[in-house]
Amino acid sequence: MKYAPSLDRLHSEAAFEVLAKAKALERKGKRVLHFEIGEPDFDTPEIVKEGAKKALDENFTHYVPSQGITELREAVCEYIEKTRNFKPTPEQVLIVPGVKPGIFYSMLALINEGDEVIYPDPGFPTYSSLVDYTNAKHVPIKLLEKNEFRMSPDDINEKITGKTRMIILNSPHNPTGSMLKKNEIKAIYKIAEDNDAYLLSDEVYSQMTYEQKHYSAAEYDNASERSILIDGFSKSFAMTGWRLGYAIGPEELIKKMTVFLINSVSCTNSFIQKAGIKALKDFDSVKKMVDKFRERRNVIVKGLNEVNGFRCIMPMGAFYTFPNITGTGKKSNELADYLLEKAGIAVLPGTAFGPGGEGYLRFSYASSIENIKEAVEKMKELL
Ligand SMILES: Cc1ncc(COP(=O)(O)O)c(C=O)c1O
Repeated sequence: MKYAPSLDRLHSEAAFEVLAKAKALERKGKRVLHFEIGEPDFDTPEIVKEGAKKALDENFTHYVPSQGITELREAVCEYIEKTRNFKPTPEQVLIVPGVKPGIFYSMLALINEGDEVIYPDPGFPTYSSLVDYTNAKHVPIKLLEKNEFRMSPDDINEKITGKTRMIILNSPHNPTGSMLKKNEIKAIYKIAEDNDAYLLSDEVYSQMTYEQKHYSAAEYDNASERSILIDGFSKSFAMTGWRLGYAIGPEELIKKMTVFLINSVSCTNSFIQKAGIKALKDFDSVKKMVDKFRERRNVIVKGLNEVNGFRCIMPMGAFYTFPNITGTGKKSNELADYLLEKAGIAVLPGTAFGPGGEGYLRFSYASSIENIKEAVEKMKELL
């Protein structure tokens, strides 16, 4: 078959490859401790499931407006008012099937061939994949352990040019768990403003913070001029398989993004949007889940620091730790394979998130405390 050459510029995700390897080992009867998966291991809250069931029973199963049902867009505006320092209008909100389509549509809508895009390295692989797909120029900003993996405004200032079209922020951050401070977010917004660049703020882990409050870059222009806030239900409400998210941005951009959505999926699933309204009011379930994650984070960071050749800083958000493994003398890829083969511990090499991840592994602590302790003991023995 002859495929479109542009397809060669889209890349897959290593997380899915490691998961497949781990599952193959399990099929052979080997016990695998999973730390590779980027999704909460908790059930979707009952109230959300009830919301979907009720909508199904009421036959809310047909096409709905492409931009999303008004009731959910209004609920998103109220939720943003409670969790960020501004309230968007429903016209600024697009309901999408997951956070990824929000990233995809906004990058396709704004980036032209030859534009420069600034993004974190290591970072969520979709960003660099879409920079390739749009034929734009990669401008990665290396995140440094000595700066607790926060993207530095000074580094952005150094790399920004007249051709920079977009700066991508992700706080709390995958894969390092770092969180930008309020003054850093403000400084980055100012850089974007001075250079007339767009700011894409991926806030999918906004609710998963442990000590520090989450701030959004979108508060400086109310997402009405240059910032685009993307968030969703996958992580905060343990709803990865439901596929529900939203993009908030300038009205004109949202209209353009709606055209992408019309051409690809017509609308986001109707009865799942009804369930989303329930989720946005359920702060209790989020709090309980975050309390559990905090406990696990403390156990895993302590444990990883006891493993020979590992050094691990305390992540501030999301549910990932990113230990430095240079002391083991192995490359990230090599060590990830070694841990899976020798100890049945599935993790991702830092390089799955870009060259800046060399020397690190990503552990997702969406796993029980017992599993965490067992994995730490096995690694202590093996290394
Ligand atoms: C930083 C980041 N953005 C976006 C996503 C995708 O979210 P969704 O499953 O809602 O599309 C993920 C999932 O791992 C992520 O880590």
